[in-house]
Amino acid sequence: MSTPGKECASLRLLDHPLAAAQLSLLRLSSTAPNEFREALRKLAAVLLFEASRQWETRAITMQSPLASFAGMTLARPVALVPILRAGLGLQDGMMPLLPEASTGHVGIYRDPATLLPIEYFCRLPPKLAESEVLVLDPMLATGQSAAAAVSLVKNAGAQRLQLVCVLACPPGLATFQQAHPEVPIIAAAVDPELNDHGYIVPGLGDAGDRYFGT
Ligand code: URA
Repeated sequence: MSTPGKECASLRLLDHPLAAAQLSLLRLSSTAPNEFREALRKLAAVLLFEASRQWETRAITMQSPLASFAGMTLARPVALVPILRAGLGLQDGMMPLLPEASTGHVGIYRDPATLLPIEYFCRLPPKLAESEVLVLDPMLATGQSAAAAVSLVKNAGAQRLQLVCVLACPPGLATFQQAHPEVPIIAAAVDPELNDHGYIVPGLGDAGDRYFGT
């Protein structure tokens, strides 16, 4: 069966049973906030494995208790840039795997009337130009917040950028890809619809509210 929006060239969809199981928990309306947080963090780890698949490594000679061996380390620093608030849930799940990553924060909210993005906060780490940068936004809904956040990160010098989300939808993919056609998008699934209030359907509701229990 074809997934709507899957034809987007820069999209990589997770195809993994563990991701599908966690995503189902996130969607379920009876999932409590603590279970939602745990599922989002677990899914974030799987998304990170996919996003980091093509990162360059550097060979380094290391010593085991018995002999030297050809070890590997990441060639570049990593910067995570969650879009506030819900992006913090993805960051929480990724940090244990990337304890040395730096974090930037971008605050963007959607004007409820126009659904246009309004930036209210931006603090980005140094060395973005040499880093692998993951912009984190669980819901690629209208695509405008993610596109605006990626523009901010690009303007700060980032060159190796990916957008990581949980759910995307065709309008969000189209808007984002038009603004940043070269930026890969990693997502767990593409849902068919965006409703008039800017929510992805079937989706999972308001990711920030469900993560923070608000
Ligand atoms: N933001 C959310 O949290 N959920 C949606 O469905 C769309 C945007």
